[in-house]
Amino acid sequence: MDNDLRKRDVEYMWHPCTEINTFEQMQFPIIESAKGAYLFEVGGRALLDGIASWWCVNLGHGHPKLIEAIQRQASVLQHSIIGGMSHPNAIELAEKLAQITPGNLKHSFFCGDGASAVESALKIAVQYWANIGQQDRSRFVGLEEGYHGDTLGAMGVGYVDAFHRDYKDVVRPAYRASSPHCAQCPCNKQPKSCNIECFESMRQIVKEHHKEIATVIVEPLCQGAAGVRIYPEEYLQRLRALCDKYGLILIADEIAVGFGRTGYMFACERAGIVPDIMTVGKGLTGGYMPMSAVIATDKIYNSFRNNDDNRDNTFYHSHTFGGNPIITALALAAIDVYENEYVLEKCQPRIEQLSVGMHELGQMLGDSNTLAMGMMGVVEINDVSGGADRAARIVKKAYEIGLFLRPRGRALYLWPPLTITQEELAQVFAILKTAIEQTA
Ligand SMILES: Cc1ncc(COP(=O)(O)O)c(C=O)c1O
Repeated sequence: MDNDLRKRDVEYMWHPCTEINTFEQMQFPIIESAKGAYLFEVGGRALLDGIASWWCVNLGHGHPKLIEAIQRQASVLQHSIIGGMSHPNAIELAEKLAQITPGNLKHSFFCGDGASAVESALKIAVQYWANIGQQDRSRFVGLEEGYHGDTLGAMGVGYVDAFHRDYKDVVRPAYRASSPHCAQCPCNKQPKSCNIECFESMRQIVKEHHKEIATVIVEPLCQGAAGVRIYPEEYLQRLRALCDKYGLILIADEIAVGFGRTGYMFACERAGIVPDIMTVGKGLTGGYMPMSAVIATDKIYNSFRNNDDNRDNTFYHSHTFGGNPIITALALAAIDVYENEYVLEKCQPRIEQLSVGMHELGQMLGDSNTLAMGMMGVVEINDVSGGADRAARIVKKAYEIGLFLRPRGRALYLWPPLTITQEELAQVFAILKTAIEQTA
């Protein structure tokens, strides 16, 4: 049966970020069902999910409370416009997000997915300045190798030549500060001697261009798509201080790390900072349905009111499915699970286990650097010419044994559901150790 499905797949589907010729030659996985930390292929073979299904299934697959929330709401009200009107679930979710996000983040603008939240956040930042009479501020600052989604605006703040070269003329590249790439420090420092020297590049850019800058956007504490580049809290603290110094808007894109990944509900909380705008997605619904939100402070929100200067400050931006009743019911149920099933508290022993396990893998691999934070960890193989091939072979072997991961260059990383058990995590590491041995 799975070969018939594969045949029909290559006939009709178009897969994201997937080279067609290689894909057609592969016995690619076809996942039919899932439960907890396990995916089940057609035919029933079980695979441990080592990446929470593209970093979103934080609460595990098949959680009864999330399924129930979708079913219950689907029979009551499935869609209601939120432009110029409202519905109870959206109101409750916006209020809840204001309560659980740090500091004075308060007003939620609901969007469809991660990239659409980033687009909205960038537009909000640009229009904020226009609203207060500073139309010249329209440039963005991001980090090298930052990733914020694949739409045109999001690509501008996350431009990677290898992926985006053909759109070069249609995106507007942002100023890019050095990536805080601790596994391959751009300043040749070791963790003990590091004084966040890589921040200097951000400081210089902001100092030189602050008058034309609308906003600085970063993935807080971890540049996920760059290969899980985990970086210190102090970088974010300095960035907050720098934005304060020049009065700039700081956007924390928590789409990947929000909802528990760093061991805190939000990475910004872990760093003890409050951004002016936060974007959330992925884990917001436990990964069951797409939705995202941009959460902004009163100061930003209030600039969008019309006043007596005859300028229309309305934010003319909408997404059909953002904030729909079913998905907001689901997000409320997911937040209830994060809070009342003590998901983060229960993670604590697994956070330690994950860190120890990653360092053991690093030792087995030899010349490499290991980083772990919360429920994510990475071993980056130092060999520039052969490291990516080695990591890809380990990922392939792990799949054959029963663990699903995705290769990312020389980085071998783990990002399991937060709810994975200690036994399952031990099994993940046992599989990876065998995969490393068998591909040596
Ligand atoms: C930090 C970050 N921002 C934005 C996005 C884009 O989200 P989506 O794939 O839902 O558009 C991603 C996706 O991985 C991400 O990691």
